[in-house]
Amino acid sequence: MPELAPGIQNRRDMVMGWIIFLSFLVLFYNISVMPRTPLEDREPLVAFHLSMGFVVSVLAIMRLFFWVKGPQPAPPQGLPAASFAFNRALLMAMFIVYGLEGIGGFLYAWGIGHHISLFGIPLPPVFGKSEAMRMSQGYFHSALGFYYLMLFCIWLAFGCYQNIRYKAGLRRLFPGSQV
Ligand code: HEM
Repeated sequence: MPELAPGIQNRRDMVMGWIIFLSFLVLFYNISVMPRTPLEDREPLVAFHLSMGFVVSVLAIMRLFFWVKGPQPAPPQGLPAASFAFNRALLMAMFIVYGLEGIGGFLYAWGIGHHISLFGIPLPPVFGKSEAMRMSQGYFHSALGFYYLMLFCIWLAFGCYQNIRYKAGLRRLFPGSQV
C-alpha cells in the first residue's frame, strides 16, 4: 500500500467524506424541520427521513469499514500524534453514532408500528408494534440525535484550537484530501 503524505487521506476516503457530508446536510435539514411539523402533516417528512437516514447510516458504516481497513493518514506537519489521534477519535465516534442511529432507527420505526419504505421499496417488518421497543429505541434514537451534535462541536472547537496552537490549518476541517 503506498505511503500517504502527512496530513493527506486517500482519494476513496476523500470522495466518501464529500458524499457523507452532502447526504448529511440533506438529512440535517430534514431532522431540523420534522419534529417542528404538526403530526398530521409530518408523514412525507418521516418517509423521507427513513430513506435518507438509511443512506447516511449505511455510508457511515462503510466509512468505518474503510477506516479500519486503512491506509491510516499521518498527522499534518507540526501536529503532535496524540492531538491528531484525539481529533480522529471524535470523528470516528460521530460515524459510530450515525451507524447506531440507523440500526436503532429501524427498531424504533418497527416498534411504533411504522411501515418502512426505502425510496419507495417497502420493507416487511421484522417484528410487530412493541411498547418496549418504542420506549427504549425512541429515547435512544432521540438522544443520539443530539449526542453527535455535541461531538461535532467538540471536534470543531478542538480543530480550531489545533490551528491556533500548531498551525494545522482550517481547510482540514472540511471534507477533502486534508485531514
Ligand atoms: C444518521 C441517521 C439518522 C439520524 C441522525 C436520525 C435522527 C433523528 C432525529 C434527530 C429524529 C427526531 C427525534 C425527536 O423528535 O426527538 C428522528 C426521528 C425518527 N427517526 Fe431517525 N435518524 C437517523 C436514521 C433513521 C433511520 C435509518 C430510521 C428508520 C429506518 C429512523 C427512524 C426514525 C423515526 C421513526 C423517527 C420518529 C419520526 C416521527 O414520527 O416524528 N431514523 N431521527
